[in-house]
Amino acid sequence: MPKAEFIKTMFDDISGRYDILNDILSMGTHRLWKNKLAKLATSENENRVLDCATGTGDIAFLIEKLGSHSITAIDFSPQMIKLALKRGEAAGSKVKFQVSDLSALPFPDKSFESATVSFGIRNVEDLPLALKELSRVSSSTYILEFGRPENSFFSFLYFGLLKIYFPVFSFISGRGDAYDYLITSSASFPSGENFLDLLKQHTDFKHLSFTPLFGGIAYIYQAKK
Ligand SMILES: C[S@@+](CC[C@H](N)C(=O)[O-])C[C@H]1O[C@@H](n2cnc3c(N)ncnc32)[C@H](O)[C@@H]1O
Repeated sequence: MPKAEFIKTMFDDISGRYDILNDILSMGTHRLWKNKLAKLATSENENRVLDCATGTGDIAFLIEKLGSHSITAIDFSPQMIKLALKRGEAAGSKVKFQVSDLSALPFPDKSFESATVSFGIRNVEDLPLALKELSRVSSSTYILEFGRPENSFFSFLYFGLLKIYFPVFSFISGRGDAYDYLITSSASFPSGENFLDLLKQHTDFKHLSFTPLFGGIAYIYQAKK
């Protein structure tokens, strides 16, 4: 099965338990990181914002709360978008949700002042193509993603602990492979300077920087033209 198909089916399958598992797994930390991402992406009062791989819409709703008026959010999992729409309806939100692939964004060039991707970029099949798409449609892009801690001893401890901790959650999620995938993909995904190198190679963003979170368990990347 191609990676994209595997990922889409996996997120469709775990969509109903995704939010609660996020809170349990990260012990609420993902909320702090997502708040930080949403604030950065709207720090210059950006209005036209695109949230990619939105899942159930966390980042899109945070950005709406921060005052942006024109927010579009996409995900290629129809089940995730269904849940996001339900949340939006209950909250009276004006976020426009749609099923789309981050590697083929259905928007004209420069449609958005700001784009965000939270815990989604690691999953795309063709990473260079997805980065090109972000740089085509937005003036600035903000990416939150897991990575490898910078200190090798901490990294060893962290991935060791995850291996003990996660099988329980694989069981609860109903997809035994979902959280194995999370560990292996986080450990192998390029982080820090390596990810900036990819942005340099595949986009026309000029100003690139990153901030490690909790010693590099996760990173926020900022890319501006
Ligand atoms: C770990 S979830 C993150 C959801 C949300 N952004 C968050 O931070 O909670 C990853 C999401 O990326 C979506 N996704 C993965 N690859 C994608 C792609 N190529 N295009 C659009 N969405 C994608 C999945 O369907 C899933 O909803």
